[in-house]
Amino acid sequence: MANQTPADRSNAPLQNLEEWDDFLKTRYPEEQAANSTPPAFKATDPNKKEEEFRNYEADARATVREFYRLNHRHQTYDFVLAKKTEFLTLNRRRMGIWEAMEYLNQLVDDSDPDTDLSQLEHLLQTAEQIRHDGHPRWFILAGLVHDLGKILCLWGEPQWAVVGDTFPVGCAYSTKIVFPQYFADNPDSKDPRFQSRVGVYKEGCGLQQVHLSWGHDEYIYHVCKKYLPEEALYMLRYHSFDPWHRENDYEHLCNERDRAMLKWVRAFNPYDLYTKSHQRPDVKELRPFYEELIAEYFPAKIDW
Ligand SMILES: [Fe+2]
Ligand SMILES: [Fe+2]
Repeated sequence: MANQTPADRSNAPLQNLEEWDDFLKTRYPEEQAANSTPPAFKATDPNKKEEEFRNYEADARATVREFYRLNHRHQTYDFVLAKKTEFLTLNRRRMGIWEAMEYLNQLVDDSDPDTDLSQLEHLLQTAEQIRHDGHPRWFILAGLVHDLGKILCLWGEPQWAVVGDTFPVGCAYSTKIVFPQYFADNPDSKDPRFQSRVGVYKEGCGLQQVHLSWGHDEYIYHVCKKYLPEEALYMLRYHSFDPWHRENDYEHLCNERDRAMLKWVRAFNPYDLYTKSHQRPDVKELRPFYEELIAEYFPAKIDW
């Protein structure tokens, strides 16, 4: 990652943010978007073959393990509330969406620039595949902005508080979360308030009431919530909530609204994870289309 010194490694065990995405593909290989003809499977590491994406926990790289160890250890109920207080005032910057895409693009991977997509390219590829499949304009726009919350990394936040699949804090952990053994070191795991099935919540209270582990999803949801339709906001807010949209867990915390919106989160997910190809989108050529789309929903500058 850009601007990273060796001393930062303890907070940034992943060589790049895509290493976590690659790991996720080992857990959930081969999935296709409905009505879609996505390009052939591509790992972010082009030397990795599809058949190597198996046994995801046993085969996980040490860097990925360390990432999850830190994530599960430090994402406590109090940590999440503190981060919300710190960041959801949105008083850090005023930026337009395209400007934010360029800002995020400072996050450059250590690895070979010829084979790894930049953040901006990932956003454009995701949006382009959604567009290619004929989905509504707000859906394309959701693809374009979904990872802009990763700018948290540029503000000194550790990787484990920006990426990774999310899970509710304040109640018992699903056993379907990856590396569940690492929760043993989370202080919340010893706090009886947080360890019953519903914990601090009420049965069927709705995800709106539930605090998820802190990261780029929740942040971008708050940045965009005044501007995008509800379906798009669910995609932004829950795209990393795999224990819900992949594993069907936490049903007891959901309400009717969540159940109705789940299909949109699911419709979005394959575009995020499986449309990565090494063919770079032509940023210059695509920009006018996306500037127009952005202007349809967003003012010139918004709060970050
Ligand atoms: Fe994401
Ligand atoms: Fe993404």
